[in-house]
Amino acid sequence: MARAAIILATLLLAGCAGNQSPLDPAGDQACALHRLLVLMTVVCGAVYALVLSGVAWSLWRARRRMASGGDDKPLDRGLWMTAGAIVVALSVLIVGSFVADRALVATRDDPALLVRVTGHQWWWRIEYRDPGTDRWIETANELHLPIGRTTRVALGSADVIHSFWVPNVAGKIDMIPGRRNQIDVTPRRAGWFRGQCAEFCGTQHAHMALDVRVDAPADFDRWLATQARPAAPQAQAVFAQRCAACHRVRGTQAAGRAGPDLTHVAARRSIAAGTLPMTRGALQGWIQQPQALKPGTSMPAVPLSAAEALAVADYVGTLR
Ligand code: CUA
Repeated sequence: MARAAIILATLLLAGCAGNQSPLDPAGDQACALHRLLVLMTVVCGAVYALVLSGVAWSLWRARRRMASGGDDKPLDRGLWMTAGAIVVALSVLIVGSFVADRALVATRDDPALLVRVTGHQWWWRIEYRDPGTDRWIETANELHLPIGRTTRVALGSADVIHSFWVPNVAGKIDMIPGRRNQIDVTPRRAGWFRGQCAEFCGTQHAHMALDVRVDAPADFDRWLATQARPAAPQAQAVFAQRCAACHRVRGTQAAGRAGPDLTHVAARRSIAAGTLPMTRGALQGWIQQPQALKPGTSMPAVPLSAAEALAVADYVGTLR
């Protein structure tokens, strides 16, 4: 019995930690939401228990009364107490919800960093405003954030409605075409987290993931400075011929805007919006068979020989 209880508790608690969990908050906004979630669970659990005990008590009383043939006494006192308890519980929830909402907008006036994230079927365009030059620095599918600084994420969409959800650092907010929603995030713990598009947006909705890296501010600044740099110039004839119409590699002739910016793609952790790991084999497979790996993706299967695909994969692998 004790063993079964331990196994059950382990299974239940195993869902609480993790890199994509609102129960393991790693930022101010996620903490505010987590506190609200705990409050709601406790209050609603108490109300549930109260209602069930009320029902059990009434049944027990009714049976006893029937057995003794006694007269019907009104339940007035118990009823009033229950109503009072429910009013108190709901008031606690209203106050908790208000406090959580205030915490989410507390940073409204002073974001340290501005980021634009645009949803595409099925990937994320990410642009950072360079605080020094006011230029926008573009990358894709991997969001980097500094610890202890508030980043304002402005969200939009290039096609259909998507939803930005990185539960460890913030709540969830829709990405709507023609509109910029925004969400502030203040991470407090370094690490890799996982975001996921949370609004059904087509056949590859499940393959629209987002790697999120939280770093110390100095490491973040170094990363951003690297992202701002153009790629090291080197010739890659096949890439220039077949890929440059859709992808941009800053510092080269490749200037396409339809797909993700690949200037520093090899420094990312995964490809195709969290679908495959960043390895030479995965790159080659993705370049040759995008429709087999992510059916419906806008990336066409460009006719390439195996040698050409490998050459492109090797070139892309140098874009760090
Ligand atoms: Cu984008 Cu679901």
